[in-house]
Amino acid sequence: MKRRTFLDFMLKGTAVSLIPLNLVSCTNEGASTINYEGLSPQTDDLFKVMDGLKFNLLIKQGDKISGSDHFGFHNDFTAMIAKPNDSGYILWVNHEYFNPLFLHGKDLGDAKTIKDVEKELYEVGGSLVEVNRNEDGSWSVVQDSIYNRRIHAGTTIPFSNQTEVLGRKEAMGTLANCAGGKTPWGTILTCEENYDSFYGERNLEDGSLIASDYYGWEKFYDNPPEHYGWVVEIDPLTGSAKKHTSMGRCAHECATVKQLEDKRCIVYTGDDSNDEHLYKLISKNPEDLSEGTLYVANLELGKWISLDINDHQILKENFKDQLDIQIHVRKAAKLVGATPLARPEDIEIDPLSGHVYVALTNNKPKGNYLGSIMKIMESNNDHESLTFEYETFLAGGVETGFACPDNLVFDANGNLWFTTDISGSSISQGPYEGLGNNALFVVLRSGERAGEIIRVATAPKDAELTGVSFALDSNDLFVCVQHPGESSADLDNLTSSWPGEPGERPRSGIVVLNGPFMDQLLA
Ligand code: FEO
Ligand code: CA
Ligand code: CA
Repeated sequence: MKRRTFLDFMLKGTAVSLIPLNLVSCTNEGASTINYEGLSPQTDDLFKVMDGLKFNLLIKQGDKISGSDHFGFHNDFTAMIAKPNDSGYILWVNHEYFNPLFLHGKDLGDAKTIKDVEKELYEVGGSLVEVNRNEDGSWSVVQDSIYNRRIHAGTTIPFSNQTEVLGRKEAMGTLANCAGGKTPWGTILTCEENYDSFYGERNLEDGSLIASDYYGWEKFYDNPPEHYGWVVEIDPLTGSAKKHTSMGRCAHECATVKQLEDKRCIVYTGDDSNDEHLYKLISKNPEDLSEGTLYVANLELGKWISLDINDHQILKENFKDQLDIQIHVRKAAKLVGATPLARPEDIEIDPLSGHVYVALTNNKPKGNYLGSIMKIMESNNDHESLTFEYETFLAGGVETGFACPDNLVFDANGNLWFTTDISGSSISQGPYEGLGNNALFVVLRSGERAGEIIRVATAPKDAELTGVSFALDSNDLFVCVQHPGESSADLDNLTSSWPGEPGERPRSGIVVLNGPFMDQLLA
């Protein structure tokens, strides 16, 4: 295929997956010459990177970050923030959930004590750590920095604007922190995804509590499930936090912010559950996400539909007030005609085109095992627009070499990086045969190899790669390795020992990638 034709093809975002990659010329020319090749699918218990890259392990679960705190379990979203006066960097890291076998040698159904649960509370939420680039290009955590702290499921967190949720203005803790976002004013958004695994969920029919079939914390604490499933904003300099009810309560994967000229913000957020929905908030006030109008996507109509109680009779008939809608946003979304989606995961905005990319990881009950990445084009490229067009940018499959896309990040040159999350027990099975372990990919944006999908790094056994984010001062890429060895039957039969020696129990951790491949790509 001629270069121009191929670029046109890419820009239209048509089904790139149908193009055999060997049609893309590998001739090297110009600044965007890439002369490295990606990895083939891998199945071993290693974190591997392609030629042209190296990595170092920054931190792993259990590592001390100060005299009183350690790094939590199952790291996900990462975001770098500059310290005041440009004197260094702080990294925020989400801790999504924990493995009770690895934490205290117990299986999920085993009896627990309050001491066990107190230990569990600490392992989720987030970590703040000061990080430093060493002379050899590796990164390390600054031990005992005044910025190092933990926010966890035992930390008291108020609802923004003194909102009362089930009679309380504060929640106990944050949990299920999957992906997130950054605001232009230097705060972090951390998203509470599978919250029902911790304190269960409310039965909407009779108001009873549906017990969690996972961690069962509701047996130990009287915390209503309505206190979880929110987007939480964190000040990384002070550790102060607030839960926003403005974006609704659901299995939020992420919260991706676009600021308008008048400093109000658009926030895109997806509900990562089968047949759930894609939302966007248009904030009421500048640099403040606590109030606004929440919309949900109807793809067939190409419309963002308001979830304001005053805009729909059916919402007035079903909910007592706007907060009731926010708390039960899934039900409200369905009443106004939201489109069911294949588990919307991460969302990123292309820095060159302004288009919005959404990872739709899979929807197994509907026979969608491989997932895709969807592109949303807001009308007039205006993020405040209430109409849009959409198309599939990439579909998972053997032609593209990936399945189940999850986390996304664009680099400064518009190359799209993404990770995959084939569940540990399904890797190399059935529809995933031949795809190998989960991996990090990049879609080349320009040059002779534009459109090529390169497998940049591969995860150890059972792990997914999460939390991809770029350093503020360089081309270095932070990547989380999450839940290696998650399908281990017991501590004597571990499927992974990453990043330790064979036989050691595995730990989630963060690696930092850099090298000439990255420098070529970002030249
Ligand atoms: Fe925690 Fe949707 O991934
Ligand atoms: Ca995810
Ligand atoms: Ca996932």
